Amino acid sequence: MEKEKKGGFSSSIGFILSAAGSAVGVGNIWRFPYLAAKDGGGLFIVVYLVLVLTFGFTLLTTDIAIGRRTQKNALKAFGSIRTGWSFLGKLTFLVPAFIMTYYSVIGGWVTKYIAVYVTNKGADAAQDGYFTDFITSKAAPVVFMLVFLAVTAFIVYCGVEKGIEKFSKIIMPGLILMIIGISLFSLTLHYTDNNGVTRTGLDGAVVYLIPNLDGLTLSRFLKILLDAMSQLFFSLSVSMGIMITYGSYVKKDVNLSSSISQIEFFDTGVALLAGLMIIPAVYVFSGTEGMAFGPSLMFVSLPRVFDSMGKAGTIIGLVFFIMVAFAAITSCVSIMETLVANCMELFHASRQRTSIMIGILSAVAAFIICLGYNVLYFELPLPNGQTAQLLDLMDYISNSLLMPFISLLTCIFVGWIIKPKWIVEEMESSGHSFRRKKLYIVMIRYITPIMMAVLFIQSTGLLNILK
Ligand code: PHE
Repeated sequence: MEKEKKGGFSSSIGFILSAAGSAVGVGNIWRFPYLAAKDGGGLFIVVYLVLVLTFGFTLLTTDIAIGRRTQKNALKAFGSIRTGWSFLGKLTFLVPAFIMTYYSVIGGWVTKYIAVYVTNKGADAAQDGYFTDFITSKAAPVVFMLVFLAVTAFIVYCGVEKGIEKFSKIIMPGLILMIIGISLFSLTLHYTDNNGVTRTGLDGAVVYLIPNLDGLTLSRFLKILLDAMSQLFFSLSVSMGIMITYGSYVKKDVNLSSSISQIEFFDTGVALLAGLMIIPAVYVFSGTEGMAFGPSLMFVSLPRVFDSMGKAGTIIGLVFFIMVAFAAITSCVSIMETLVANCMELFHASRQRTSIMIGILSAVAAFIICLGYNVLYFELPLPNGQTAQLLDLMDYISNSLLMPFISLLTCIFVGWIIKPKWIVEEMESSGHSFRRKKLYIVMIRYITPIMMAVLFIQSTGLLNILK
């Protein structure tokens, strides 16, 4: 009866595409390529792949199995397993609440750039200061954020099967086609600069894929490891209750083990392709020095690259930003869905009313974040050495502090309190085998908690092991 009311994914492919939709977001398309470029190309990629198959797999399995076994959302799931642990559910709930405040703001920026290319204003976007002028202006970022948020809220309002699953089934294949298309195009590019130097897309792919071991020291390697680790969390949407919620919508006969492998494959595949699309293109037109790190990669460097492509640039720019919007929408939907599902469970309210309420609250919060670039502008030094505005501060609290801390507690909870067997039983309950069972047990009890503790301590700046 409960389950009927709750709704769920109608098929395992629907679940895989929806979970992959959550996982594949701006993190894959923008953050992964710039980290890869910064951290020695292929070296970062190898480290990341190893982490996905070990840590990523462990955390994803834990979340999804908890969701399916308890049939609850994070807020109630942990407490329903062990009464004393309901605080972990509350803590987990905080992460999507923090991320929701700013994700739609970034979604709004992407929407704005779609408008730029639709109206053929790509050349303007390539000018110095265009992006800063836009985000510091008062009205435009708010308007575009509202458009993005309205679409997100609409999908959540429509429900799991008719909203999230249906949209993911259309959007995700579309995204894959676009990303493959642009990556292939990127590889065919070539350009001769004023000094007569010709660079090709294939040269750029070499820069991206071949490990650069120049000047590699232990501390640099550790830095790369931590960069890859924090990217992994954000990218797989783990330790924030999202995959618990999605897990709770999965039918009991679905083979979780193979679904999880497919989600890992999807998320990592898109990240790798995004690098193959962006790095060669930037390299061809601006060399390795042109690779800006941070938001300016997507909103400043790439518009310049599109502008250098001439006419084709307008089309490629448009397709690129539509693709990013697709990726961002399915991620934002998963964040909002988690908030909505938890609140429905908590207040016994209908999906429609809860979606509207959460939609309004999110709009207010995102509005305040937009003000962070004008009225509420500040420069706050963070313990990890970065300088933050309001948006970065929210990102720091959710991703750098809460996520490793929650993962650490979850590992202790699963590894030592309820014991890995509890998860293993759920993974095998459909009659399928749990393929990486032994690895899972070792990872959840010993290796992951240690790594999470290191990551957490490093983010708090308490122990600056890397200096
Ligand atoms: N995983 C998404 C990405 O890589 C981001 C995300 C974060 C989605 C948090 C949901 C929750 O961009």
